[in-house]
Amino acid sequence: MKILVINGPNLNMLGIREPDIYGKDTYAGLLNIIKAHCEKKNVEVSFFQSNHEGAIVDEIQAAYGKIDGIVINPAAYTHTSVAILDALKAVGIPTVEVHISDINTREEFRKHSYVSLVAKKTIAGHGFVGYLEAVDYLVETI
Ligand code: DQA
Repeated sequence: MKILVINGPNLNMLGIREPDIYGKDTYAGLLNIIKAHCEKKNVEVSFFQSNHEGAIVDEIQAAYGKIDGIVINPAAYTHTSVAILDALKAVGIPTVEVHISDINTREEFRKHSYVSLVAKKTIAGHGFVGYLEAVDYLVETI
């Protein structure tokens, strides 16, 4: 089983960026944790991070026919991107949405997610563990 983990803008700044909200661990650390978890679960995992909406759309389209499940933290594009929503709908790959922080208890504008309209599940506020829960959900349901 092949899972693609997509992270949106500013998540490459994990560890530096607002550590009180997103923690002190780095993006590289996040990838290591996910890699180790996927090895245990016999999942082939690949990663993509971009600060550019169109690049994320391109990556989702490129996953068509190649990837069994997507874990996506669209970051700020969660709240704005119809293009990412449409790309996920277009490819029809089972997707789990992840947010490190609890988007429902922060600013009002973070409560709305376009990606939630297509995601099989949304996990928010579980820190890095949320990505592992998303992998588990895809393993159990695909
Ligand atoms: C985030 C929450 C978003 O509102 C924010 O724009 C992010 C990260 C999270 O992981 O908690 O960049 O998706």
